[in-house]
Amino acid sequence: MNKITQLFGIKYPIIQGGMIWNSGYKLASAVSNAGGLGLIGAGSMYPDVLREHIQKCKKATNKPFGVNVPMLYPNIEEIIQIIIDEGVKIVFTSAGNPKTWTSHLKSHGITVVHVVSSSKFALKAQEAGVDAVVAEGFEAGGHNGREETTTFTLIPMVKEQISIPLIAAGGIATGKGMLAAMILGADGVQMGSRFAASVESSAHENFKKTIIETREGDTLVTLKELAPVRLIKNKFFNDLQELYAKCPSTEALKELLGRARAKKGMFEGDLIEGELEIGQIAGLIHEIKPVDEIFEIVLKEFEETKNKISSFSF
Ligand SMILES: Cc1cc2nc3c(=O)[nH]c(=O)nc-3n(C[C@H](O)[C@H](O)[C@H](O)COP(=O)(O)O)c2cc1C
Repeated sequence: MNKITQLFGIKYPIIQGGMIWNSGYKLASAVSNAGGLGLIGAGSMYPDVLREHIQKCKKATNKPFGVNVPMLYPNIEEIIQIIIDEGVKIVFTSAGNPKTWTSHLKSHGITVVHVVSSSKFALKAQEAGVDAVVAEGFEAGGHNGREETTTFTLIPMVKEQISIPLIAAGGIATGKGMLAAMILGADGVQMGSRFAASVESSAHENFKKTIIETREGDTLVTLKELAPVRLIKNKFFNDLQELYAKCPSTEALKELLGRARAKKGMFEGDLIEGELEIGQIAGLIHEIKPVDEIFEIVLKEFEETKNKISSFSF
């Protein structure tokens, strides 16, 4: 039995990462209906909007789903209360200290998973009492770790340190990638970029098209010392890099950044002035597909590759 399918009561150990402006109830419920675990991304939602998405998700699927809560955004207390009131059973926290909310959530019967980018923080999350960790490598879309550890090195190192279930993220978009992560020690995988380019993603069509046109080298991490984030190199990225190089005040950066830029880029489709978060693996995503087809393709490749392994030779 797989530890991740068992923990969440799902069929396949595939999690759709919470993604601001991409993962509303339509994507989350489609992933859960396909046998994975869908996550509503609370990071881009006002509390009332989150409540609405949770309620719609409950209607759209009778399978388990969860909510991703990046702790760097405002209204966290209100968001946590809504999650509890609405009876959500699974929460993935990220971008913050796992000690802050884990015991409170668990005291309400919620399964808690925390996203980390190093073995040190994986251990801290385990100590805080989480049920599993997502170890996310530097190639991932969105916010990254300062240590720049890539998935290929991170997974076995985290595996060496922790005893709770381990979910690999960053650079996984195929069945082969999933199998490789599991060979390295992961019990399951979390994919973001691949689902951002799905039919059910709430991202603007312009952004989805840009994802499938993205090639190797088209993304870079900026704000490295402050809040590292991997973006497509558009005008907004260049403006940000230029300002960052001048050692600006936090206020000046906040003014240029803000949540509004992420909305502008990914939700409203402004490819020039907007912030476009995506992982390096976008270079391997060539088509926008419905979630059920993505599952079919990934799982078929996983099985086929697994069966071929015994014939690998040198
Ligand atoms: C557009 C986008 C938005 C994201 N937003 C969040 C978020 O709100 N919270 C979070 O924990 N991770 C966020 N992530 C990270 C994903 O949940 C996931 O861990 C990551 O995408 C995995 O790497 P991959 O993109 O290589 O698949 C985001 C990623 C992308 C691409």
